Amino acid sequence: MKRIPVIIFGAGGVGQALLKQIVYGRSQAITRNRCHFDVIAVADTHSCLWAAEGLSDAQLLTVVQDKRAGRPVNADPEQRPENVEILETAVAAGLENVIVVDVTAVAGMEPVIDRALDLDYRVVLANKKPLAGPWIAARRYFNNPRLRHESTVGGGQPVIATLRYLLDVNDTVYEITGQLSGSLGFICGRLDEGDSFAQAIVAAKERGYTEPDPRDDLGGQDVMRKILILGRMAGWPLETADLQVESLYPAAMADLSVAEFMQATPLLDEMMAARVTAVRQKGQVLRYVARVVAGSGSVSLQALPANSPLANMKYISFRTGLYDDEPLLLGGKGAGVEMTAAGVLGDMLGLVREM
Ligand SMILES: NC(=O)c1ccc[n+]([C@@H]2O[C@H](COP(=O)([O-])OP(=O)(O)OC[C@H]3O[C@@H](n4cnc5c(N)ncnc54)[C@H](OP(=O)(O)O)[C@@H]3O)[C@@H](O)[C@H]2O)c1
Repeated sequence: MKRIPVIIFGAGGVGQALLKQIVYGRSQAITRNRCHFDVIAVADTHSCLWAAEGLSDAQLLTVVQDKRAGRPVNADPEQRPENVEILETAVAAGLENVIVVDVTAVAGMEPVIDRALDLDYRVVLANKKPLAGPWIAARRYFNNPRLRHESTVGGGQPVIATLRYLLDVNDTVYEITGQLSGSLGFICGRLDEGDSFAQAIVAAKERGYTEPDPRDDLGGQDVMRKILILGRMAGWPLETADLQVESLYPAAMADLSVAEFMQATPLLDEMMAARVTAVRQKGQVLRYVARVVAGSGSVSLQALPANSPLANMKYISFRTGLYDDEPLLLGGKGAGVEMTAAGVLGDMLGLVREM
């Protein structure tokens, strides 16, 4: 049986779900894959828990409880080396075949990922930001057999695996289109039902479908990162400037506090109601659609026929050489922490199988 050391950066919703899935999935991992993950480190913003021989399952479940209760993974702030130093500690302990997992949501993780790859460690990302940075820095992360990132697009849906398969069989990708945001999909659905834009935003926020600051969703940057990742995988060395992004709130609202922004959202109702009415008269609905082709892409609110299958499901569509007249569609439930963590775990197991 393979013992695989694992370092996990991030213990938020996805990190906690991953820890539980590792603990409760141990017997299946052993039976099906003859592998045992030794989580040697878990780090959050201000603390880190470390054990070269692997933290016990009881310790991992305590981390989950502590984080849920708002406590750090380690109450001792002295125990917080820099993230790269955590990797060096693993090297000093003589550990090999280490898998480094980034389930943070922060920018600036590239030095950790680069060091891990330099060490011939393997890397799994749910964090989109390193893959969406400048191409010169991000290019080594694409089509790299030591790095996987299934959960960066489509939650746990096998979007990346499908695209990788198409590329592996020498299919040519012409266009990728999709509704890539669960929160914006929900908001568009509420607009169909007659909610004002402000009501739809409140409903999405109350259900926890948006980020704590809904502007993180409404600004389109998260969707832009997803379509950028798919476009780069398809072989196009795109930069963010190559993608046009329609923000659903004006720049003048960018500096408001979250509470002020939520209070101000009714100011956006009239503009959105006019758009909804205009498309409804043509039997259409509004959907926030991302699209990428060679060299360019866009992320914007678009009118789709209300009765089209594509307006009624969260989907990603691949138009390729093999799937030209009838695109390959992938649809189903979007993101959630459990599905996202399952995508991370699947990547970890995939890397182990290839060792
Ligand atoms: N939630 C979803 O359904 C979903 C779906 C698809 C993809 N994703 C992606 O998965 C990632 C994780 O999402 P999430 O919902 O779990 O986010 P989250 O709840 O905000 O958790 C982020 C975690 O990262 C930690 N962190 C921040 N900076 C760090 C650093 N420098 N070093 C180590 N840890 C650091 C945070 O620490 P503290 O706890 O101390 O703040 C927190 O534990 C994100 O990139 C997100 O885009 C999420």
